[in-house]
Amino acid sequence: MKGVLLAGGTGSRLFPLTRITNKHLLPIGDRPMISYGIEALVQAGITEIMVVTGGTHAGEFLRLLSNGREHGLDLLVYGYQDRPGGIAEALGLAEHFVGRDSVCVMLADNIVERSIRPSVERFAEQSSGARLLLAEISDPAHLRHLGVPEFDGEGRLTRIVEKPIDPPSTYCVTGIYLYDSSVFEVIPTLEPSGRGELEITDVNNHFVSAGQMEYDVIGGFWGDAGESIDAYYEVNDQVRRSGANHP
Ligand code: G1P
Repeated sequence: MKGVLLAGGTGSRLFPLTRITNKHLLPIGDRPMISYGIEALVQAGITEIMVVTGGTHAGEFLRLLSNGREHGLDLLVYGYQDRPGGIAEALGLAEHFVGRDSVCVMLADNIVERSIRPSVERFAEQSSGARLLLAEISDPAHLRHLGVPEFDGEGRLTRIVEKPIDPPSTYCVTGIYLYDSSVFEVIPTLEPSGRGELEITDVNNHFVSAGQMEYDVIGGFWGDAGESIDAYYEVNDQVRRSGANHP
């Protein structure tokens, strides 16, 4: 399985910090944010990774991560997104890298307390389709900033609603996604959303409609450090207190 770590975007929710650097290079605990995503993937047994970034600080990733050996990677390649076209568009840049393999996609501002390895292993046993990692969030105000799954009476996913005014459940879709290579046939069929981006939620809803989407609810802390300044500091506090990616 390949890994794709998405580290682009303008980071406008963290302005002015992100006027002078890329969001994913800001410190969390004692390391730049992106190190936690690399660690999560390596710890799940994924050692061939593409980092997709963009903007004016892309060179800093090379300076930080070099060829990835220090981080336990066998292969580290870089992709460059030349406009803020959304998560799904950024993933599209990894098509040739992933080839016919399956892929674990991670937004590099997502930090987890516990290892993602169990989900990666379950997906490896799943013959095709996709798998989402969900987190339980009780605060509806928080859910309104995220993708939220809707379930039927049997706990099956019926759809995902992006940034819902009225959240249909108390779970969110984290920025950790597992796909088979058919995801690269879905991306070219997408239309830009209201915010002018190709949405990962549209990709996920494609797999939900096809009956090919599984999910796990992750235990322990999950945070999106790019959501707001408050979220950034909450993730920082959490990591300093309990660490991240625990096996
Ligand atoms: C993205 C996804 C959203 C998901 C979130 C997790 O949101 O669109 O579904 O819940 O990541 O971090 P964005 O950060 O682009 O607003």
